[in-house]
Amino acid sequence: MERILCVLIGYICGLFQTSYLYGKVHGIDIRNYGSGNAGTTNALRTLGAKAGAITLLGDCFKCVIAVVIVHLIFGKSHPEMIRLLGMYAAAGTILGHNFPFYLNFKGGKGIAATAGLLLSFDLRLTLVAAIVFLAVFFLTHYVSLGSLLVYVVFVAGIIIMGQNGQFTGMSQANIYEMYVLAILLAILAYYKHWPNILRLIHGNENKTYLKKKKA
Ligand code: G3P
Repeated sequence: MERILCVLIGYICGLFQTSYLYGKVHGIDIRNYGSGNAGTTNALRTLGAKAGAITLLGDCFKCVIAVVIVHLIFGKSHPEMIRLLGMYAAAGTILGHNFPFYLNFKGGKGIAATAGLLLSFDLRLTLVAAIVFLAVFFLTHYVSLGSLLVYVVFVAGIIIMGQNGQFTGMSQANIYEMYVLAILLAILAYYKHWPNILRLIHGNENKTYLKKKKA
């Protein structure tokens, strides 16, 4: 029951579609432009750096907010599984972001929200994921490739932490449940990035530059 409530809280937070709302304020539906994705990269590509930064912050912090709400509700009653419940809230946020019911279930790919999940989960893991993402981004300019590798770091990191006894106080069953949840989120991210993966394989994925390239 707690798990369902956490997913629901997350889903409601995830419905706040930063790039879509920013686009609407500027008279466009972002899903009709660029890659068609309602996310940070497409906001940057379509509406500029300010839109990209606002989308990143909005989509990241809606996930942090969902996790904080869950901590406030269940932190005292379920301290031994609060990390797991926080992850359910983050999973709900990613679902709300990726599949918003009021936009015909056509949202984003959940990477900025995943940054929020990482931030609220473990700062060391966040740092490693950020370094991998930034290194891949600055070397290749493929945001999608960096995003996909963030999930490799996330899944590997959570399993390494669990196997090294980092989740003190948690039952083994709950730790395994976290592994499964992390793997399911990774599968969802790879599914949402399938067109990007095909473009990466065929060498025609969109590159992203922070500054506009000179013609
Ligand atoms: O997080 C989304 C990013 O990985 C790819 O975005 O717009 O290039 O499909 P986009």
